[in-house]
Amino acid sequence: MDKNPQNPVILAKLQELEEKYALTGQDLLSSLEGLKQANYLKYWDYIHLDTLLSLQTPRTDFPDERIFIVYHQITELYFRLIRWEMEQITAQNTPESAFFLERIQRINRYVAHLANSFDIMVEGMEVAQFRQFRMALLPASGFQSAQFRMIEICSTDFYNLLEKSFQNNLTAKASIEEVFSYSYWMRGASDEKTGQETITSQHFQEKYKDEFVNLAKKNKDKNIWQTYLKVAPDANSDKIRTALREYDQLINVEWRLAHYRSAVKYLKNEAGAEVAATGGTNWQKYLPPRFQRTIFYPLLWSEDEKSKWGKSWVDKHVN
Ligand code: HEM
Repeated sequence: MDKNPQNPVILAKLQELEEKYALTGQDLLSSLEGLKQANYLKYWDYIHLDTLLSLQTPRTDFPDERIFIVYHQITELYFRLIRWEMEQITAQNTPESAFFLERIQRINRYVAHLANSFDIMVEGMEVAQFRQFRMALLPASGFQSAQFRMIEICSTDFYNLLEKSFQNNLTAKASIEEVFSYSYWMRGASDEKTGQETITSQHFQEKYKDEFVNLAKKNKDKNIWQTYLKVAPDANSDKIRTALREYDQLINVEWRLAHYRSAVKYLKNEAGAEVAATGGTNWQKYLPPRFQRTIFYPLLWSEDEKSKWGKSWVDKHVN
């Protein structure tokens, strides 16, 4: 340690601090005294490790339920990172192309990690345990992940999140409030037998609908797609286009298929019949990307690519 009180680097730093404190009328000496008294920061306090590790409260005694809880929590933390990047992009009216590209690439890394790690769900729990502990969690479902919807709403024009058949009948003047109930996910988590909206969906709308509508309104002119349109064309343009296509593919095909595989693994028995562990929703018709066909950036894909949505992943991983 440098004990020389005349060290010019330390003196210069003190000078800078003095100027900083003077600006807000604070006394540097008192603050230095406070610094002397303060405890050193410790890693476990900084990341709130004890709190983090206390956030798992299984509803059953099946050990694999903890894997289910922790993996959902990990996913939600990645969702938070994705939203954080999106918030930084949409906070700027016309971001520099290099900034925009780098942030989309960061998002792609997070989503790729989520899609690739879904094996933790697909392979990493005992089927018999899952089918029992899952019953104790009804009617809760990952369908109720608000962050997943927020990511969708911030990614694209709300129009692209509407039920496909409704898109064709839409008048240009319709407000987000008017069309909200035609969002594609309102078709999900409906009752397989009656077609009625499930209680899972009702709870979700009750808690979040207003927040989603407000977010969609706020992001109408500054979601990722709208911001992309404002980025001036330059040497990064091709890379940005590729990165946005990659994002669309990662979240709307690869993550969804990885997730769908877990549903097939746990919710269908050896004879292919559905097991009652979801409260009887229409997940088999709703979850597969080839039926759902959610595409954030339709203008970046050819008609042929859109008609084969989801197929390239199946070719790569299954055929
Ligand atoms: C073994 C693991 C899993 C199974 C069997 C499973 C099953 C399902 C099913 C059947 C649905 C349709 C709605 C319903 O019937 O409840 C659904 C929706 C959903 N789940 Fe999962 N899930 C699993 C893990 C996860 C994880 C780890 C997440 C991460 C947050 C998640 C997020 C979602 C989301 C966001 C939806 C709505 C998807 C959409 O609207 O397209 N799921 N899940």
